[in-house]
Amino acid sequence: MKVIVVGATGTIGKAVVRAIESRHVVVPVSRSGVKHRVDLADADSIKRLFLEIGPVDGVISAAASARFGPLVSLTDEDFRFSLTGKLMGQVNLLRLGLDYVADRGCFTLTSGVLGRSSVPGSAAVSLANAGVEGFVRAAALEMPRGIRINVVSPGWRTETLESRGMDPGPGTPAAVVARAYVQSLEGKDNGTVIQSTIV
Ligand SMILES: NC(=O)c1ccc[n+]([C@@H]2O[C@H](COP(=O)([O-])OP(=O)(O)OC[C@H]3O[C@@H](n4cnc5c(N)ncnc54)[C@H](OP(=O)(O)O)[C@@H]3O)[C@@H](O)[C@H]2O)c1
Repeated sequence: MKVIVVGATGTIGKAVVRAIESRHVVVPVSRSGVKHRVDLADADSIKRLFLEIGPVDGVISAAASARFGPLVSLTDEDFRFSLTGKLMGQVNLLRLGLDYVADRGCFTLTSGVLGRSSVPGSAAVSLANAGVEGFVRAAALEMPRGIRINVVSPGWRTETLESRGMDPGPGTPAAVVARAYVQSLEGKDNGTVIQSTIV
């Protein structure tokens, strides 16, 4: 299968590429991509990406982020950033990419553990992640031509906890998170929130 991986230079994206590149043709993209670039926050760049690449069998998004901080300190810009990239960016990836995906192809988006298990400071992140999951569950009911859509909800990555000076014990290594994307791409799930910590 030919598979676009948005966020292929990130920690999870790199692990996803490693997990699938021996069986599939991977097209790596990000804002600073060498051959193809996309900014999920810019719908025109998503349109250009699909025009450049043409038909594909799979689209994986392991990209974009949302802002973390005390609720009273989060600004309009923090919410705009979180919703434009992580939420609407991934929604638009499906809306603008649907016609380019082959029959029985697959979209895999990314949310995160804070979408279902909030902590102080996670209001914008939880909003974006829960939004992505709600969108995927609903969109799956209307996918044409046997196309599937799932969302991977990574727990805290071991590498992220380490980089923040936190106990990496409860974390999940990126290579384990990547298995959830493989399950979505190669399995039969549709409309599933795949929690990477239990794969
Ligand atoms: N790390 C965790 O513990 C954790 C936990 C739960 C959920 N997640 C989610 O998992 C996803 C990947 O996380 P990660 O830790 O692998 O992130 P990362 O290491 O920071 O990598 C992010 C990747 O996305 C690309 N990217 C960022 N913004 C983009 C945009 N607007 N449009 C297109 N590409 C963009 C980056 O490349 P460029 O800079 O070149 O664009 C990079 O390739 C994110 O959605 C994150 O919220 C992570």
